[in-house]
Amino acid sequence: MNFEAASALLEKYSQQHVLHYYDKLSDTQKATLLSSIENIDFSAFKTLNMAENKQLGQVTPIDALSLKEIKKQRSRYIQTGLAAIREGRVGVVLLAGGQGTRLGFNGPKGTFNIGVNKPLYIFECQINSIMASCAPAQTLPHLFIMTSPQNDEITRKFMEEHDYFGYDKKLIHFFVQGVAPAINYDGKILMAEKYKPVLTPDGNGGWFAALNKAYGRMLSKWGIEWLNLAGVDNVLQKICDPAFIGATIGSGVNCGCKSVKKVSPEERVGVICKEDGVPTVIEYYDMPQKLKVRHDVKGELIFCYGVILNYLFSVEKLKETIKKKLPYHLAEKKIPCIKGGKKFVPEAPNGYKLEQLAVDLVKLMGSCIAYEVEREVEFAPVKNATGADSVESARALLIKNGVEL
Ligand code: UTP
Repeated sequence: MNFEAASALLEKYSQQHVLHYYDKLSDTQKATLLSSIENIDFSAFKTLNMAENKQLGQVTPIDALSLKEIKKQRSRYIQTGLAAIREGRVGVVLLAGGQGTRLGFNGPKGTFNIGVNKPLYIFECQINSIMASCAPAQTLPHLFIMTSPQNDEITRKFMEEHDYFGYDKKLIHFFVQGVAPAINYDGKILMAEKYKPVLTPDGNGGWFAALNKAYGRMLSKWGIEWLNLAGVDNVLQKICDPAFIGATIGSGVNCGCKSVKKVSPEERVGVICKEDGVPTVIEYYDMPQKLKVRHDVKGELIFCYGVILNYLFSVEKLKETIKKKLPYHLAEKKIPCIKGGKKFVPEAPNGYKLEQLAVDLVKLMGSCIAYEVEREVEFAPVKNATGADSVESARALLIKNGVEL
């Protein structure tokens, strides 16, 4: 892309300031800047208003497979799930491209050591989980790990140095997610350097587009029909859980979604429900207050199923939706940048990262079962250094579940 084309493109989106220092740059810096502009997905700006001004349709509760129901059908579900794992029809995708800003750890979250008396890395917890679930099938699934341009190299190196925690190296495949520009409160792209926009990981919603680009043909070649998507930071989750896989496949739906009963109306988790009759996940900040607090006659929350970022998706259906653009959401963050030409490290949030969200895929699937799991047994996300959903709370839950730390 040459200067004139870049300038015209930026003008279309009122972002001409990106070229403010162009005349003062070296030739290499000019080339870097033009190439960055060429690679920015400006369609993100069009979808922003869509996500932020979205009007909800009619929101109704979803019938979930409750713990009680699952208990009754458990052995049947497990049989179906183990058969799918054994036949290689299930793959796992671990989302590890996040920046983990709330945890404040200087490195990819998966490389964090949650152990106390001996090392236990977050990646190790996830690998252990898959190996335990799949032991009865006597085989392991292909494992796809999503990284970001910022943490790809260090993640690969870490896994190699730890011998993939005993997983078969040939079954592990890394792929890199996309990035999006960060913006200030006026919607202007922030600059990391005079020749470089701030580009941050574009959320976990682009995972299938990125995976399909890197391994789309291999998914078909290896006969992978289902993908179990899991976040990296829930150290207690069961990945590739045969009962969950069997229940989803056996229900004839395109998607399964592990959920826990919310502890309070205000808990900051997305809720699986229906919008205009279609299963969907509504983020806590989009859920109207009157729906959040609605109770039934027994005093139970009506919109009670919170999602824990553990889904099973039909690959065929995912491929059908690939052309549909997910909206970008605004995530308010502290974003280091340049201000008046000088480096600026903010102490309070100063703008937004643009993120697509995996939860937005659920609605595109058309059909989905909510599958209840016990939160004390399957939900210990490491989001913060202390307090709720922290290293401390996750350690306590791991110990409660018999994991030696
Ligand atoms: P979070 O929403 O908790 O984001 O990610 P985060 O970046 O890890 O942490 P904060 O918000 O900066 O503190 C939920 C899951 O989605 C993955 C994360 O790695 C985690 O497994 N994720 C998030 C990505 O893979 N890419 C992203 O761009 C964002």
